[in-house]
Amino acid sequence: MKIAIIGAGNMGGAIARGLAHGQYINASDITVSNPSNAKLEKLKEEYPEINVTNSNKEAADGADIVIVAVKPWKMEEVIKPLRLRQPQVLVSVAAGLTFEDLAHYVDPEMPIFRVIPNTAIAINESLTLMAARNASDEQTETMLKLFNEMGVTVLIEEKLFSAGTSLTSCGIAYVLKYVQAAMQAGIELGFKPQEAKKMVAQTMLGAAQLLLKDEQSHPTIEIEKVTTPGGITIKGLNRLEHDGFTSTVINAIKESCV
Ligand SMILES: NC(=O)c1ccc[n+]([C@@H]2O[C@H](COP(=O)([O-])OP(=O)(O)OC[C@H]3O[C@@H](n4cnc5c(N)ncnc54)[C@H](OP(=O)(O)O)[C@@H]3O)[C@@H](O)[C@H]2O)c1
Repeated sequence: MKIAIIGAGNMGGAIARGLAHGQYINASDITVSNPSNAKLEKLKEEYPEINVTNSNKEAADGADIVIVAVKPWKMEEVIKPLRLRQPQVLVSVAAGLTFEDLAHYVDPEMPIFRVIPNTAIAINESLTLMAARNASDEQTETMLKLFNEMGVTVLIEEKLFSAGTSLTSCGIAYVLKYVQAAMQAGIELGFKPQEAKKMVAQTMLGAAQLLLKDEQSHPTIEIEKVTTPGGITIKGLNRLEHDGFTSTVINAIKESCV
């Protein structure tokens, strides 16, 4: 299977590295195109087998899957000249561009996937949202396998893309904001910033793993385990509620769902 990646920026570069690093695709079957050379040279330095070019057409011709990772306003001018044809599959990483928009740039019957990774794709820990149009089960399976090499991929309906983006792409910033706030408290209480960062980030990782490693697990169950009646945790939890934590998080996520 040959893969073209158009655009070697944050997203395109991370996808190229994730795929080249993974088991599913040979690096020699990946071609990355970008107008300027510095990012391509860096990629080539890290993965010499990856093919690089300044020509989008050269990358896309003969590719089974064409992943376009340029800014949303460049998608039309980049995709149209590629003249993609079935059985090629188009994958758009662009935020905000719908299947309806994308179908104007290619044969409207063509299989198209929309994917939105979050920035943890850089370390293969992305939560990637995926939606499919005109795709067979086999094509969807393949796409899930590809993007699961870079973290965890969830297939959702396109109408839930904004909500999903708010939870996962914007959500990573909200989670980091909690880390930052807890670190500030830790520093006031006497820890060095690096110590506080390690303590809070590992606590967060542990909490996430408790939820992810057991399907039956739920935040309420895990919270109850650390909440002794009359104890110190319930004091803090109630302070969070009195100060509007739950409501603020809900509002923030709804605010960024446009
Ligand atoms: N960053 C995120 O967290 C994130 C998350 C989800 C989705 N996305 C989506 O991912 C897409 C790319 O975002 P990004 O953050 O990776 O942007 P980026 O770092 O600016 O990368 C865009 C790349 O496209 C290249 N490019 C520009 N014109 C091109 C052309 N005509 N043909 C081929 N390549 C071209 C640029 O090359 P030069 O630098 O040489 O101009 C640059 O390397 C966007 O549509 C965005 O909505 C981003």
